[in-house]
Amino acid sequence: MSEVVNVQLISALSKAETAAIEAEIAHLPNRESAAISALRIVQERRGWISDESLHAIAHLLGMSAHALDSIATFYNLIYRRPVGRHVLMLCDSVSCYVMGYAGIREALIEKLGIHEGETTADGRFTYLPNVCLGACDRAPVLMIDEDLIGNVAPEGLDEVLARYE
Ligand code: FES
Repeated sequence: MSEVVNVQLISALSKAETAAIEAEIAHLPNRESAAISALRIVQERRGWISDESLHAIAHLLGMSAHALDSIATFYNLIYRRPVGRHVLMLCDSVSCYVMGYAGIREALIEKLGIHEGETTADGRFTYLPNVCLGACDRAPVLMIDEDLIGNVAPEGLDEVLARYE
Protein backbone atom coordinates (compact mmCIF):
# COMPACT_ATOMS: atom_id res chain seq x y z
CA MET A 1 0.00 0.00 0.00
CA SER A 2 1.46 3.37 -0.93
CA GLU A 3 2.27 6.02 1.62
CA VAL A 4 -0.27 8.32 -0.01
CA VAL A 5 -3.05 5.81 0.61
CA ASN A 6 -1.85 5.34 4.18
CA VAL A 7 -1.96 9.07 4.84
CA GLN A 8 -5.46 9.22 3.42
CA LEU A 9 -6.59 6.38 5.67
CA ILE A 10 -5.10 8.01 8.73
CA SER A 11 -6.53 11.40 7.88
CA ALA A 12 -10.09 10.26 7.38
CA LEU A 13 -12.27 10.46 10.45
CA SER A 14 -13.82 7.19 11.48
CA LYS A 15 -17.57 6.69 11.25
CA ALA A 16 -17.75 6.75 15.05
CA GLU A 17 -15.82 10.01 15.22
CA THR A 18 -17.93 11.61 12.53
CA ALA A 19 -21.15 10.46 14.21
CA ALA A 20 -20.04 11.75 17.60
CA ILE A 21 -19.12 15.14 16.11
CA GLU A 22 -22.39 15.37 14.19
CA ALA A 23 -24.26 14.61 17.43
CA GLU A 24 -22.50 17.57 19.07
CA ILE A 25 -23.27 19.84 16.13
CA ALA A 26 -26.96 18.95 16.39
CA HIS A 27 -27.13 20.77 19.75
CA LEU A 28 -25.39 23.92 18.56
CA PRO A 29 -26.35 26.98 16.52
CA ASN A 30 -23.70 26.34 13.87
CA ARG A 31 -21.10 23.75 12.92
CA GLU A 32 -18.07 25.81 13.97
CA SER A 33 -19.36 25.94 17.54
CA ALA A 34 -18.52 22.25 17.83
CA ALA A 35 -14.81 22.90 17.29
CA ILE A 36 -13.59 22.12 20.81
CA SER A 37 -15.90 19.14 21.19
CA ALA A 38 -14.79 17.77 17.85
CA LEU A 39 -11.13 18.14 18.75
CA ARG A 40 -11.71 16.37 22.05
CA ILE A 41 -13.67 13.56 20.42
CA VAL A 42 -10.84 12.82 18.01
CA GLN A 43 -8.14 13.29 20.65
CA GLU A 44 -9.87 10.83 22.98
CA ARG A 45 -9.54 8.17 20.31
CA ARG A 46 -6.16 9.06 18.80
CA GLY A 47 -4.30 10.65 21.71
CA TRP A 48 -3.50 13.87 19.86
CA ILE A 49 -4.53 15.99 16.89
CA SER A 50 -2.33 15.47 13.86
CA ASP A 51 -2.35 17.86 10.90
CA GLU A 52 -4.34 15.25 8.99
CA SER A 53 -6.95 15.01 11.74
CA LEU A 54 -7.09 18.78 11.98
CA HIS A 55 -7.83 19.14 8.28
CA ALA A 56 -10.46 16.40 8.38
CA ILE A 57 -12.22 18.00 11.36
CA ALA A 58 -12.05 21.47 9.80
CA HIS A 59 -13.59 20.09 6.61
CA LEU A 60 -16.40 18.45 8.57
CA LEU A 61 -17.10 21.68 10.46
CA GLY A 62 -16.96 23.81 7.32
CA MET A 63 -14.16 26.01 8.61
CA SER A 64 -10.57 26.62 7.62
CA ALA A 65 -7.80 24.45 9.06
CA HIS A 66 -6.03 27.65 10.10
CA ALA A 67 -9.00 28.82 12.15
CA LEU A 68 -9.36 25.42 13.79
CA ASP A 69 -5.64 25.27 14.52
CA SER A 70 -5.89 28.66 16.27
CA ILE A 71 -8.54 27.18 18.55
CA ALA A 72 -6.60 23.95 19.08
CA THR A 73 -3.40 25.71 20.06
CA PHE A 74 -5.22 28.12 22.38
CA TYR A 75 -6.52 25.30 24.58
CA ASN A 76 -3.76 23.61 26.52
CA LEU A 77 -5.69 20.34 26.78
CA ILE A 78 -5.65 19.85 23.04
CA TYR A 79 -2.39 18.24 21.98
CA ARG A 80 -0.98 19.05 18.56
CA ARG A 81 1.94 16.69 19.03
CA PRO A 82 1.97 13.07 20.20
CA VAL A 83 1.92 12.66 23.98
CA GLY A 84 2.61 9.80 26.35
CA ARG A 85 -0.03 7.52 27.88
CA HIS A 86 -0.40 10.05 30.70
CA VAL A 87 -0.03 13.82 30.53
CA LEU A 88 1.30 15.44 33.67
CA MET A 89 0.88 19.20 34.11
CA LEU A 90 2.59 21.02 36.94
CA CYS A 91 1.18 24.41 37.89
CA ASP A 92 3.82 27.14 37.87
CA SER A 93 1.62 30.10 38.85
CA VAL A 94 2.02 32.25 41.96
CA SER A 95 0.38 30.19 44.73
CA CYS A 96 2.01 26.97 43.65
CA TYR A 97 5.31 28.73 43.09
CA VAL A 98 5.27 30.04 46.65
CA MET A 99 4.20 26.68 48.09
CA GLY A 100 7.01 24.61 46.65
CA TYR A 101 6.76 24.42 42.87
CA ALA A 102 10.54 24.45 42.41
CA GLY A 103 11.06 21.39 44.60
CA ILE A 104 8.30 19.46 42.84
CA ARG A 105 9.69 20.39 39.44
CA GLU A 106 13.18 19.31 40.41
CA ALA A 107 11.91 15.98 41.76
CA LEU A 108 9.80 15.36 38.65
CA ILE A 109 12.72 16.02 36.33
CA GLU A 110 14.88 13.65 38.35
CA LYS A 111 12.27 10.88 38.62
CA LEU A 112 11.00 11.05 35.05
CA GLY A 113 14.30 11.91 33.40
CA ILE A 114 12.64 14.52 31.20
CA HIS A 115 12.06 18.27 31.13
CA GLU A 116 8.97 20.28 30.27
CA GLY A 117 7.57 19.44 26.85
CA GLU A 118 9.20 16.02 26.75
CA THR A 119 7.92 12.44 26.93
CA THR A 120 9.58 9.59 28.79
CA ALA A 121 11.35 7.03 26.60
CA ASP A 122 8.77 4.38 27.55
CA GLY A 123 5.92 6.66 26.48
CA ARG A 124 4.45 6.63 29.97
CA PHE A 125 4.43 10.35 30.79
CA THR A 126 4.52 13.66 28.97
CA TYR A 127 5.43 16.53 31.28
CA LEU A 128 3.99 19.96 30.49
CA PRO A 129 4.13 23.25 32.38
CA ASN A 130 0.80 24.84 33.14
CA VAL A 131 -0.64 28.06 34.49
CA CYS A 132 -3.06 28.11 37.43
CA LEU A 133 -5.17 24.96 37.58
CA GLY A 134 -7.81 26.68 39.70
CA ALA A 135 -7.03 24.87 42.93
CA CYS A 136 -4.73 27.40 44.57
CA ASP A 137 -5.98 26.49 48.05
CA ARG A 138 -4.38 23.07 47.53
CA ALA A 139 -1.04 24.34 46.20
CA PRO A 140 1.24 22.99 44.98
CA VAL A 141 -0.94 21.29 42.43
CA LEU A 142 -0.36 19.01 39.49
CA MET A 143 -2.75 17.35 37.11
CA ILE A 144 -2.32 13.90 35.61
CA ASP A 145 -4.80 13.19 32.82
CA GLU A 146 -8.14 14.25 34.36
CA ASP A 147 -6.98 14.00 37.98
CA LEU A 148 -6.20 17.13 39.97
CA ILE A 149 -3.73 16.33 42.73
CA GLY A 150 -3.14 18.93 45.42
CA ASN A 151 -0.80 19.44 48.35
CA VAL A 152 1.91 17.59 46.49
CA ALA A 153 5.27 17.07 48.15
CA PRO A 154 8.47 15.80 46.52
CA GLU A 155 8.55 12.83 48.89
CA GLY A 156 5.01 11.86 47.87
CA LEU A 157 5.65 11.86 44.15
CA ASP A 158 6.60 8.19 43.89
CA GLU A 159 3.24 7.15 45.29
CA VAL A 160 1.40 9.54 42.97
CA LEU A 161 3.28 8.48 39.83
CA ALA A 162 2.84 4.78 40.67
CA ARG A 163 -0.92 5.16 40.12
CA TYR A 164 -0.32 5.74 36.40
CA GLU A 165 1.13 2.89 34.38
FE1 FES B 1 -1.40 26.70 41.18
FE2 FES B 1 -3.61 28.20 41.22
S1 FES B 1 -1.57 28.85 41.37
S2 FES B 1 -3.49 26.05 41.16
